[in-house]
Amino acid sequence: MKISQRAQNIQESPIRKLSALANAAKKRGTTVYHLNIGQPDIDTPPAFMERIINYKEKVLSYGPSDGLEALKVAMIHYFAYFKITLEVKNIVIATGGSEAIAFAFNAVADPGDEVIVSEPFYTNYSGYASQCGLTIVPVTAKAENGFHLPAIAEFEKKLTPRTRAVLICSPNNPTGTVYTPEELKAIGEFAREHDLFLIADEVYKEFTYDGKVHFSVLQLAGLEDRVIVVDSISKRYSACGARIGAVISRNEEVMKGITKFAQARLCPPTLEQVGAIGAYELPHDYFKEVMAEYQKRRDILYDILTSRREIVLQKPEGAFYIMAKLPIEDGETFARWLLNEFNDRNETVMIAPGEGFYSTPGKGKDEVRLAYVIEAAKLERAARLLLIALDKFCG
Ligand SMILES: Cc1ncc(COP(=O)(O)O)c(C=O)c1O
Repeated sequence: MKISQRAQNIQESPIRKLSALANAAKKRGTTVYHLNIGQPDIDTPPAFMERIINYKEKVLSYGPSDGLEALKVAMIHYFAYFKITLEVKNIVIATGGSEAIAFAFNAVADPGDEVIVSEPFYTNYSGYASQCGLTIVPVTAKAENGFHLPAIAEFEKKLTPRTRAVLICSPNNPTGTVYTPEELKAIGEFAREHDLFLIADEVYKEFTYDGKVHFSVLQLAGLEDRVIVVDSISKRYSACGARIGAVISRNEEVMKGITKFAQARLCPPTLEQVGAIGAYELPHDYFKEVMAEYQKRRDILYDILTSRREIVLQKPEGAFYIMAKLPIEDGETFARWLLNEFNDRNETVMIAPGEGFYSTPGKGKDEVRLAYVIEAAKLERAARLLLIALDKFCG
């Protein structure tokens, strides 16, 4: 018996693959600060939990495949705050933004088709592309350019008869870049000109700093038929374990196809949808304090890292990650060493090696992604540990 090529070829998540080493370090009594994963420590809003506690149905039944209508209505109100008008039929609730990515890929492309993505990119795009049989075609964004979208000419060079879509993520994981309305208009025009779908991952929509405002592709006029948005409550309401996300599109054919994919997996989790309604009904002010906390954390991490000239990084404009170039040859070797060999006062730090965020072979080897999702005092210690470790590692 032989397992499939897809099962053999799918890459391990660079964010999670070193977990066994972290667990072993913890078993040895070492404290591990997690800068490797975007798991916020902010409390999930009590409004989410209360809805679930007060759920009165006697049977936890299947819900509609496309999600509870009450949740969609709550989302429509939330989007109206940003002057984005949606209807119930424009939303399919997914089991996390992750399933939304898979739905979007499957809806626009067949095995062998290609999706152009600006790299570095959220590593699980590769995982879902492997599962769907698609090829990710990277266009490399440059740190010197703040990881903003490469020139349209670079995207044009990647077009083939198999290109079906361009995928962007703003605010960006792993770079923290927030694309400008002009960049988004240009990429939208590129999609229109070459008859492509524009898939936009906007799961970090609220997470913008220094007064920057996120512009959604749902606000692009004339592209209603091409735009597919990946959305999620995981980060928005610090509810990663709820597994509630959504695909949003005004293209009826796309939504019809996605609804059939949704039917094949029956329905998204019922209780967590009920909780999500409670979260979505919070006043928008809820985000003020949360964003101030993340901006503070960004500043702590950025300031400590920039105290070393040999570390190259951009100040993130949004999301909660920093992509940093370190004076090392291989981020994975360094990440393993941090967990296996290094400790300072019995503490160490876990990071995500950068290579897995690129699909061009060899790129990102000297980069790492750091998530600023732990509270200020711990983050400061973790960042200083990283500098102590770098000094030791580099001799
Ligand atoms: C850019 C991006 N998209 C999608 C996801 C998937 O999130 P979830 O499946 O938890 O909604 C993540 C999670 O880290 C992410 O960073």
